[in-house]
Amino acid sequence: MIIKLKIFRFDPQKGEKPYYQTFEVEADPMDRLLDCLNRIRWEQDPTFSFRWSCGHGICGSDGMRINGICGLACQKLVRDFKEEVLIEPLPVFKVIKDLIVDLEPFFQRYYAIKPYLITKTSPPEREHKQSPAEQRLFEEAIRCILCACCTASCPVNQNEETASYIGPAALVRAFRYLFDSRDEASEERVALLDHKDGVWGCQTKWKCTEVCPKEISVTKEIGQIKKRIYERKQN
Ligand code: SF4
Ligand code: FES
Repeated sequence: MIIKLKIFRFDPQKGEKPYYQTFEVEADPMDRLLDCLNRIRWEQDPTFSFRWSCGHGICGSDGMRINGICGLACQKLVRDFKEEVLIEPLPVFKVIKDLIVDLEPFFQRYYAIKPYLITKTSPPEREHKQSPAEQRLFEEAIRCILCACCTASCPVNQNEETASYIGPAALVRAFRYLFDSRDEASEERVALLDHKDGVWGCQTKWKCTEVCPKEISVTKEIGQIKKRIYERKQN
């Protein structure tokens, strides 16, 4: 079958305005959109730019807006699309070229929540022990591949007036450490999140949960952070 892809193009080095270009690609219904994008680059236009690496929903690098919804091109099959498919870069971020966006601000916010285990007591003789029940509390959050689809889809991040909101992806990672029984920095973590651009920036719009390719209950996890902070204040 032939699939048509209408793709956002932008090359700042050429000094031109962004435009859309339609390509036709011969594809098998079981091909992924990523295969079609690669075919365009390899066979039709080597200047076409986008990120990808693993091809299997692991690296998180091929997040893009597909027919208006953010997702991974490697997880979308040609058979699930009709007529023309609109492919655009992730919103919220500055476009560097074609589908490549500048994710530096995204990672700055991620680093700001201290995405690592912090312990203060002396290390145990062997490993830090954790029960299966304790591990299950944050097991889902570990699936996050930092694809940025949630943050790009969040109406709060999309609104210029509230764009300083830390965003759902950073909060999922904050949840992961806040609910880890081995971590000993909950006070510090709460201080980083307890403000209007932190966890309280979330307006519970659920868009992050709708688009997450790893099916993480993003909004619920953010809600649990809010609850934990609220409960700490009551005690
Ligand atoms: Fe991607 Fe889901 Fe992680 Fe957000 S929570 S960055 S959508 S994997
Ligand atoms: Fe790695 Fe899609 S290419 S997640």
